[in-house]
Amino acid sequence: MKRFSLIALLTCVSWSLMAQEAYQIGDKVTMYYPANFDSVRHLPSLALLEEPTATKRLAQFPKVLSPIFSQGDSTTIAEIMIEAETDLYGTGEVTGDLVRNGETITLWNKDNYAYGKDNGKKLYQSHPWVMGVRADGTAFGVLADNTYRQQIDLTSSIKFISDGPAFRVIVIERDSPKEVLKALGELTGTIEMPPLWALGYQQSRYSYFPDTRVQEIADTFRTKQIPIDVIWMDIDYMDGFRVFTFDKEGFKDPKALNQYLKSKDIKSVYMIDPGVKKDPGYAVYDSGTAGNHWVQTAQGVPFVGEVWPGDCVFPDFTRPETQRWWAGLYDDFLATGIDGVWNDMNEPAVFDGPDMSMPIDNIHRGGGVLPQDIHLRYHNVYGLLMVRSSREGILKNRPNIRPFILSRANFIGGHRYAATWTGDNASTWDHLKMSIPMSITLGLSGQPFNGPDIGGFSGEATEELLGHWMTVGAFYPFSRNHSAIDAPFQEPWVFGKEVEDASRKAINKRYQLMPFLYTLFQEAATTGLPVMRPMFLADPKDLKLRAEQEAFLWGDDLAIIPAWAESPQLPKGAWEVLPFNEVPDQYQPTLKVREGAVIPMGPVIQSTEDYQTDMLDLVVNLDAAGKATGRLYIDDGKSFDFKSGAYVHYEIQVVQTGPGNYTATVKKLGGALKQKPEFRVIVLDNGQRLPIAPKAVKWKYLD
Ligand code: GLC
Repeated sequence: MKRFSLIALLTCVSWSLMAQEAYQIGDKVTMYYPANFDSVRHLPSLALLEEPTATKRLAQFPKVLSPIFSQGDSTTIAEIMIEAETDLYGTGEVTGDLVRNGETITLWNKDNYAYGKDNGKKLYQSHPWVMGVRADGTAFGVLADNTYRQQIDLTSSIKFISDGPAFRVIVIERDSPKEVLKALGELTGTIEMPPLWALGYQQSRYSYFPDTRVQEIADTFRTKQIPIDVIWMDIDYMDGFRVFTFDKEGFKDPKALNQYLKSKDIKSVYMIDPGVKKDPGYAVYDSGTAGNHWVQTAQGVPFVGEVWPGDCVFPDFTRPETQRWWAGLYDDFLATGIDGVWNDMNEPAVFDGPDMSMPIDNIHRGGGVLPQDIHLRYHNVYGLLMVRSSREGILKNRPNIRPFILSRANFIGGHRYAATWTGDNASTWDHLKMSIPMSITLGLSGQPFNGPDIGGFSGEATEELLGHWMTVGAFYPFSRNHSAIDAPFQEPWVFGKEVEDASRKAINKRYQLMPFLYTLFQEAATTGLPVMRPMFLADPKDLKLRAEQEAFLWGDDLAIIPAWAESPQLPKGAWEVLPFNEVPDQYQPTLKVREGAVIPMGPVIQSTEDYQTDMLDLVVNLDAAGKATGRLYIDDGKSFDFKSGAYVHYEIQVVQTGPGNYTATVKKLGGALKQKPEFRVIVLDNGQRLPIAPKAVKWKYLD
């Protein structure tokens, strides 16, 4: 097949198409260009991992799913007609139901406290992506490769309405939604394997202040034996909200604090915002000014806007020099022993700016591969460019340690650089319930590593709400309790013993399930499939599952059913309850294991520092034929050594061969690590765990 590269064609000159064109860029993946496509105003794509290679130019647009490009008064439009009874999903970080049909949302990254503005339809991130699932279970995906402000209108078709120049659209056609998500992963890239500790439970607050309060929180978790991996430092650790500084009184010895936390097996994550206080004499402001690093107004002077420290200037992350300067700021910062970085307010939020941000005619000067353009183009990728640069800074200092960054703003594809949380939600039942479709939807939009503020950020959590939120929250891919400065405290113990015990039980389960969870993150990192999944993904032909948004899955095999779920719909089959040896309470979600699944589990541990895979349980729900299969991924949880083979990935099959007799086959799928855990088989039977005597299992190892 003749292959030719569009990059050569598109990136060197301003190349405008005179007529609409379509190119095949993969098996059943088509890239559509509108007439008058202006490559300089759009390329290189920040959504895509790399510029796709066209394998064929299509003589004409295919009949189904071809976008119809048009022009409004001041907008450019791409519309994709859909068949009746197509369920639509995706569209990124959004409030509302899992099924997106009928919704109109705006993609313009926005600081949205308690989701109170714009009816919650405009939040911190932008994902111009829609997945359609037809009545027969086949599926497609539509990606508008467009960073400009736009709307996705799903009232009767899939319509992207942009305030920028005409944009290209990619359409993926597949037999199932999972295959669509994998194809999206191939186009946009997948998450990097996170450090294991980032999968642990995390406690945050705006703000724990001073350092002794942080120590007290750490001590309380350890005394109460509630497992925890991370404590978060919000803006008050800084000196007057100046980024890359420490408060001289409250956090006078960050190294000692971080060391203290480490001695308790707790990691530290510190916040860094993009707004740099306009303050001559402050080193970051001075070096940024000397390097001419600030985003400029249309008049060509540094733009000044208000954020936490008062008047601020904002790094222009489109400039390679600025990216390097910013990355360099992490050197001294990380030398204090900080483990992870929290990039917030990076929509960018500007309190006194238009629509809480910058004027759309501000100038980003570009350089390197990115051309100069106005804020209208770069607004939605400001967060992505910031976290990309932060990540560079961390990696420069610690080349063989996996970085962890949490970002509030992002754009599709930005999952390559940072995990996310869903911003400033509220301590209400509504927000607890909504967090599940939100979190699932992010996973269906390329970002598997996400979760909301457990307990809610703003407002007052009640005992009952926190009890339910902590126990469901232990099952978000990113599991962190966080609350606002003016909200009452909401650590797991503040409402007394019942919620404290319920929280501990749920978090214990997260840690026991860590081998399974880590294996799912490896799957997300290699295939793009989400960790937290909607029920319909397991059986897209079963229409009853399409709108299920109370209960959800980890992978294909573990269902999490909140105690408050009214009529949870599970995929067909004999699901078995996964019982825990605990005093029951009103809060615990029910966990169920799919028929035919093997779930690898470990003991309760207080932090992932104690994680081990020498001895694991294989929890098995045999299918009607007496078989069950699962997977287990093992590496050092810290470094990139897995990239050169220091991992092992097993497929494990347990088969009942006779009454009380089993064979277990452990087949190596990949990796050079010699580690072979010792396994104990536990069969689930009518809500009971039946441990199988070692003698009753015949082990087969296949290399
Ligand atoms: C923003 C963040 C919130 C943080 C606060 C103070 O509102 O979304 O999580 O606590 O800023 O830094």
